[in-house]
Amino acid sequence: MACLGYNVKLFKATGFPSESRIHPTRRTNSIRCAVTSATKRYNITLLPGDGIGPEIMNIAKDVLSLAGSQEGIEFQFKEMPVGGVALDLTGVPLPEETLSIAKQSDAILLGAIGGYKWDSNEKHLKPETGLLQLRAGLEVFANLRPASVLPQLVDSSTLKREVAEGVDLMVVRELTGGIYFGKPRGFGTNEKGEEIGFNTEVYATYEIDRIARVGFETARKRRGKLCSVDKANVLEASMLWRKRVTAIASEYPDVELSHMYVDNAAMQLIRDPKQFDTIVTNNIFGDILSDEASMITGSIGMLPSASLSDSGPGLFEPIHGSAPDIAGQDKANPLAMVLSAAMLLRYGLGEENAAKKIENAVLETLNRGYRTGDTLSDGKKLVGCKEMGEEVLRSVDSERSIAVQICKLQFPAGLSPPGNAQALHFLLVKVMLQENVSGCFHCRKNRG
Ligand code: IPM
Ligand code: MG
Repeated sequence: MACLGYNVKLFKATGFPSESRIHPTRRTNSIRCAVTSATKRYNITLLPGDGIGPEIMNIAKDVLSLAGSQEGIEFQFKEMPVGGVALDLTGVPLPEETLSIAKQSDAILLGAIGGYKWDSNEKHLKPETGLLQLRAGLEVFANLRPASVLPQLVDSSTLKREVAEGVDLMVVRELTGGIYFGKPRGFGTNEKGEEIGFNTEVYATYEIDRIARVGFETARKRRGKLCSVDKANVLEASMLWRKRVTAIASEYPDVELSHMYVDNAAMQLIRDPKQFDTIVTNNIFGDILSDEASMITGSIGMLPSASLSDSGPGLFEPIHGSAPDIAGQDKANPLAMVLSAAMLLRYGLGEENAAKKIENAVLETLNRGYRTGDTLSDGKKLVGCKEMGEEVLRSVDSERSIAVQICKLQFPAGLSPPGNAQALHFLLVKVMLQENVSGCFHCRKNRG
């Protein structure tokens, strides 16, 4: 199961899928591929949602399947409705069946929700309500939102090159508490008879403690710096936040903790973003600051996220919305969605090699000059969503063809492997691993 306990282990590089998920494949000859000797199977719930959701989900699904197959992983996908599409189909934004299927799966991949059509719906009939119910239902309280400026996209940043270059930060956002869920909330009238709307920012100690620990664990695996963002000069909920984060810090003497008010943090993020390593913050500040951080990287269309619970499957989604203005026009950037699939592999399933494969493929595609409109700069090739997806697949596949070439060099097509094949094979696998090529596809074919 994808969960934080698991994930924390994963940070320590000890995470492997449980034995029950490993099904040895048939071996029909004497050659055994050290890397792809077992097939692992995972059930993934796909929630494409609204707007550009289905377009980008199609691509992520194909990329996941291809990268998975190269690592001996098989996925069983089940597509379910959430958001506006669920409202139209069932009258509610999160059908019970969607939540129950999601809970039973190994991980959940979500596209985006929302659209003009449902904007003026009552709150309980808004697509966004479905997303919040999903996060609450899965108890995914820890939302990891990485924002790194890729060298390939530094010119797409709205900040000067010298400010943006090298930014690599992680926002750890509390996701199931605070003002998003606090009670009392609602509409009413004040003493003057005027209509009012009200919400409550509320945090209990256990909610702060558990997200603080995720923040510290995350920082520990990065550059060892954690900045806790709050509004403790004004809000009681933030005063408790600061007190608890400070208390938890004693468990992590190796992590350097600082505190910052959210208004200052918003300013510092565009003044000198490189000062940040890991930021831990509440639900609403995390929502706002992660959008701000995304623009430093060039485009919100590049940022993935992972939402994790203590026990249970994780939810993986791009941080951008459903972009109804460009939906169905083949203009969306699918890379945040594809990178969310990589996060699913890493944080949800512990499949680091397959995750890296996808991330490398995205970088390789950008290196080859392909850009969607949101990240286009001089001299780059403008492509649509679909073509970008095809290029990412091509990049994933190019690792495979390197492996096949190396193998064919030693075992020309049609010839049986020689007597010392096994020793040679292991040597080849070693070379391939050094070359960051993770599987022996030729041998897999031979194994039948
Ligand atoms: C996000 C989004 C959501 C949020 C909306 C769609 C409810 O902005 O994931 O950042 O506010 O959390
Ligand atoms: Mg947001």
